[in-house]
Amino acid sequence: MGEVDQAFIQEPEHRPKLSIIEPEGIPLIDLSPLSCPDSISDPKAIEVLVREIGNACKNWGFFQVINHGVPQEKREKVETAARKFFAQPLEEKRKIRRDEIRVVGYFDTEHTKNVRDWKEVFDFLVEEPTLVPSSTEPDDKGETQWFNQWPENPPELREVLEEYSQEVEKLSLKLMGLIALSLGLPEDRFKGYFKDQTSFIRLNHYPPCPSPQLALGVGPHKDAGALTVLAQDEVGGLEVKRKTDGEWIRVRPTPNAYIINVGDILQVWSNDKYESAEHRVMVNSEKERFSVPFLLFPAHYTEVKPLEELTNKQNPAKYRPYSWGKFMTLRKLSNFKKLKAENIQIYHFRVSD
Ligand code: OGA
Ligand code: NI
Repeated sequence: MGEVDQAFIQEPEHRPKLSIIEPEGIPLIDLSPLSCPDSISDPKAIEVLVREIGNACKNWGFFQVINHGVPQEKREKVETAARKFFAQPLEEKRKIRRDEIRVVGYFDTEHTKNVRDWKEVFDFLVEEPTLVPSSTEPDDKGETQWFNQWPENPPELREVLEEYSQEVEKLSLKLMGLIALSLGLPEDRFKGYFKDQTSFIRLNHYPPCPSPQLALGVGPHKDAGALTVLAQDEVGGLEVKRKTDGEWIRVRPTPNAYIINVGDILQVWSNDKYESAEHRVMVNSEKERFSVPFLLFPAHYTEVKPLEELTNKQNPAKYRPYSWGKFMTLRKLSNFKKLKAENIQIYHFRVSD
């Protein structure tokens, strides 16, 4: 990627200011009570943790975690393999390019809200095969399977990613347990939704950009799944829109921490108690940046709707139920069709007050 092509240019209101706000930042939460044997005899430590997580979900929709139990060495191996993969010539990478049939793999022309992102990605599905609807038609009950595409090089990419994905998956489910507790639900309340998960891991590479004031690595968006568990390197660039005043706040890189954010599905399940936060990625003119999000998605047959336990006469469901599989396949399709129309979003299912 050299000159900034017109396709990358953000509308003036979305162009990033080059000054960065980095005040108190998003909450940093220490998960050591989860792995500490004392916590069994000291339920207070877990209670405090649950409260912290609940507050972070409510006030920010974003937080970072440390002492999370994912071995640092497994994460480093992924980062090293990712660097090797993206350093290859474009023709090599394009051999496993994503298309309408092979929906995961390499991709370098992703758009967010119809503006091209200054990045290239490699996606892989956590479950192989992943069970999905065979069409986007609401009445078609057929199912099909999605498979991964692996590059020839680096040869270790597959193994390191598969090992890593088991670890982040464990972390994401632990967090969903704590989130359930924070909503006054049993710890395993969400577990069943992920039995046939459609989750995937993405390797993001943001090359240096000659015009960081005009383009974005990823344009403003919210994550569609339940929860995102993201590893970022030391370069920085991720920004979160603060709920209180709409300012963009830089998420400061913290060595070996994970950034956790509430996705749209959790927003619907919690009937808006926990809202997904808008975020974006700034690029810079000198350094390339890598990040690795794990996107926790439920089974395709999940009917997403506000949980009955969290709704009542005074607080009725704010969303109509929608099929996760149909929603996800529609989103995927719009990637290739480059529909001018807006992507499907959860507010399309909002019940008007
Ligand atoms: C994403 C995303 C943030 C980052 O891929 O959805 O928001 O820091 N990435 O790369
Ligand atoms: Ni995102």
